[in-house]
Amino acid sequence: MNSSDTDTTNAGTAPDRVRLRPMTPPDLEVVSRLEPELFGAEAWSPAMLAAELDRTAGPGADRTYLVAEAPGRDGSVQIVGYAGLWYGDGGGDADLLTIGTIPSVRRRGVATAMLSALLHAAADAGCRAVLLEVRASNEAAQRLYAAHEFKPIGHRRRYYRAPVEDATVMRRSLRQPADRSA
Ligand SMILES: CC(C)(COP(=O)(O)OP(=O)(O)OC[C@H]1O[C@@H](n2cnc3c(N)ncnc32)[C@H](O)[C@@H]1OP(=O)(O)O)[C@@H](O)C(=O)NCCC(=O)NCCS
Repeated sequence: MNSSDTDTTNAGTAPDRVRLRPMTPPDLEVVSRLEPELFGAEAWSPAMLAAELDRTAGPGADRTYLVAEAPGRDGSVQIVGYAGLWYGDGGGDADLLTIGTIPSVRRRGVATAMLSALLHAAADAGCRAVLLEVRASNEAAQRLYAAHEFKPIGHRRRYYRAPVEDATVMRRSLRQPADRSA
């Protein structure tokens, strides 16, 4: 994997050039490099990411991960974001596990596209709602979620560790059967 795979200055794109696809094991090297850039000290380790991806296929699959790809200025396709959702057995509420986009493509609808796809995945699995936790200070993410009809429903004291901070819990209902309005 060469350095251009995570070159955040090379990637820049209009939303219509972004493509979503399922995350696969070969993506883990790039995603592992992006984790600290997107999530700082709370970055998941490569082993944690691999364990997550293991649970996206097979009889016990209970979660889904996707990546957003876009062509960079040099024409090479790069991962510009990724996101994951736990849907369990589809009989209850889903949980948004992670979502992030690289700084050079922010405010161009990449997270919106990923979140919409995951809301559809949750509805298709049969879930009634999607829950998430977000840092109390993370206004950008809270605005993204509010734009997708997530409402704050609770507070978890000292939920985050590095740095210590409370979490706001948000919830978005899904109409049944599969909600196609997300
Ligand atoms: C939060 C994050 C995922 C947003 O990604 P993005 O691709 O820039 O999001 P979008 O372009 O789809 O933004 C959709 C809407 O969210 C809101 N939003 C996103 N970033 C915002 C910001 N910095 N300030 C205010 N509102 C913001 C806006 O309402 C925006 O719509 P608009 O651009 O038309 O005003 C991105 O900033 C990120 O990866 N941050 C670091 C990781 C993180 O915090 N993840 C969330 C963990 S809970």
